[in-house]
Amino acid sequence: MNSEIRLSCHDVERYLGEEESRVHALRGVSLQLDPGSVHAVVGPSGCGKSTLLYILGLLDSPDKGSVAIESQLMSNLSDDELARRRNELIGFIFQFHFLMEDFSAQENVMIPMRRLGRLSEEEMLERAGGLLEAVGLGDKRRRPSRHLSGGEQQRVAIARSLANDPKVILADEPTGNLDTANSERAFDLLKNLVHQGEKALLLVTHNPAIAEACDWIHEMKDGRIIASHPRSSRS
Ligand SMILES: Nc1ncnc2c1ncn2[C@@H]1O[C@H](COP(=O)(O)OP(=O)(O)O)[C@@H](O)[C@H]1O
Ligand SMILES: [Mg+2]
Repeated sequence: MNSEIRLSCHDVERYLGEEESRVHALRGVSLQLDPGSVHAVVGPSGCGKSTLLYILGLLDSPDKGSVAIESQLMSNLSDDELARRRNELIGFIFQFHFLMEDFSAQENVMIPMRRLGRLSEEEMLERAGGLLEAVGLGDKRRRPSRHLSGGEQQRVAIARSLANDPKVILADEPTGNLDTANSERAFDLLKNLVHQGEKALLLVTHNPAIAEACDWIHEMKDGRIIASHPRSSRS
C-alpha cells in the first residue's frame, strides 16, 4: 500500500440506465492520482468521462471495482461517511459552475465550509476572502455572482473548490464555457494552486493546449482508458 497515492480506482465498472437501454458506461477503469499531480481526461462525448469523475468524487458508486482515498477503500463506508469524506477531501468544479447567483462571491465560497461546519462565521469569512484574493477577486468578494463576468464566475468556482482545503480537485470541463484566453488563464491559476498545495487535480477537457500542460493525459474511449501519457514522453 502506498500512502502517497491520494485517490485511486481499480477496475471500475459502471452500468447506467434501465434494462434494455442500460449503458455499460465504464468497463474496467484504473487510475491513480499522486499529490501534486495534474491529470487530464480526454475523449469523445459519451465515453464515460463524467461518470468516472462522479465515481472518483464519491457522488456515485461503482458496480464492480474499488475506489480508495489514501489507500483506504471507500466501498464499505456508509453514505454519511462518504459524504463526510467528500466534503473534507474533494473539491469539485463543474462545467456550468452552479454558483448561487444571488449570493455574493464570498457566500458562494463559504457554502462548502458551512457544510463541513468546522469554522466560525468569522473564520469562514476570512478564509473565503483569502481564497478570492488568491484568484484575483479580492475586491469583488461582496458582489452577487450574477454581476460577475463568466471568467470571474469560473474563478469563484475555483476558489469554492478549494474552500475546505481538499486533497483532490475534480473538474468536469471547468473552462468549457469560457473563451480560449480566459479558459487557459483559469487553468493556469488552478494548476498553480494545486501545485502549491500539493493537491491532486483531475480535469476533463476538450482543449488540447490545456491537456498538453498536464502531467498526464488519459485518453478514454467507450468506457475505457485506452492510453495514458506522462508529460515527459511528450515534448
Ligand atoms: N443517468 C444516465 N442514465 C443512462 N445513461 C447514462 C446516464 N448518464 C450517462 N449515461 C450514458 O453513459 C455514457 C457515458 O456518459 P458520460 O460519462 O456522461 O460521458 P462523457 O462525460 O464522456 O460525455 C453515455 O453513453 C451516456 O449516454
Ligand atoms: Mg461529461
